[in-house]
Amino acid sequence: MALLELILLVFVLLMALSIVWSTLQTGISPMMSSGKACQAMLDSIDRPANGPLIDLGSGWGTLVIAVARKYPHQQVIGYELSWFPWFVSIIRKYSLGLDNLTLYRKDFKNAELSNASILFCYLFPEGMVALHKKLNRELLNETLIVSNTFALPSCQPTKVIRLKDVYQTPIYVYYWQPKCSFTPRNNNDDKPY
Ligand SMILES: C[S@@+](CC[C@H](N)C(=O)[O-])C[C@H]1O[C@@H](n2cnc3c(N)ncnc32)[C@H](O)[C@@H]1O
Repeated sequence: MALLELILLVFVLLMALSIVWSTLQTGISPMMSSGKACQAMLDSIDRPANGPLIDLGSGWGTLVIAVARKYPHQQVIGYELSWFPWFVSIIRKYSLGLDNLTLYRKDFKNAELSNASILFCYLFPEGMVALHKKLNRELLNETLIVSNTFALPSCQPTKVIRLKDVYQTPIYVYYWQPKCSFTPRNNNDDKPY
């Protein structure tokens, strides 16, 4: 019994260390979108076009699984760097039989996003800057982007939904157009470019 407890303890410690390590690497913990945030993000989109629906940093799978269940005939993709949350999301995918969902353990910055119809994210300010640079370089089509909490720098959202939670969490919705070029914010200039 003591050996079993020791093995369990070591396992839990390794998982905790792996999450701390990947949080330091990526800049954000695998915190999941709340139920309200998932619902608002799903409600904010119309029927998607043909390209895949992609979650950039899919964590434990909370949002990406909700998307795959809502749109069983669409290809849905999640990219996640953190090993343990990704592994849990894989188990969830198979236990729910979601054949339309593909989960990569991969940095979304190295992923092919140009044919996406919708991009979802719940990142952090530097992550949004990196995403914006990537979109400017690679995204030539109009694409819907739905971001939990953090805004895309220098772009005007089409819609901002405020959740009825203690933080009044914003959900930003953008219709990305290639002309929305990257200009770092300065001089307190909040206008779209
Ligand atoms: C706040 S969680 C959001 C999880 C999920 N999208 C949701 O809404 O429930 C952000 C996730 O993004 C992942 N992440 C951050 N940067 C990443 C990158 N460059 N490539 C892949 N995943 C990344 C983190 O490991 C973390 O699990």
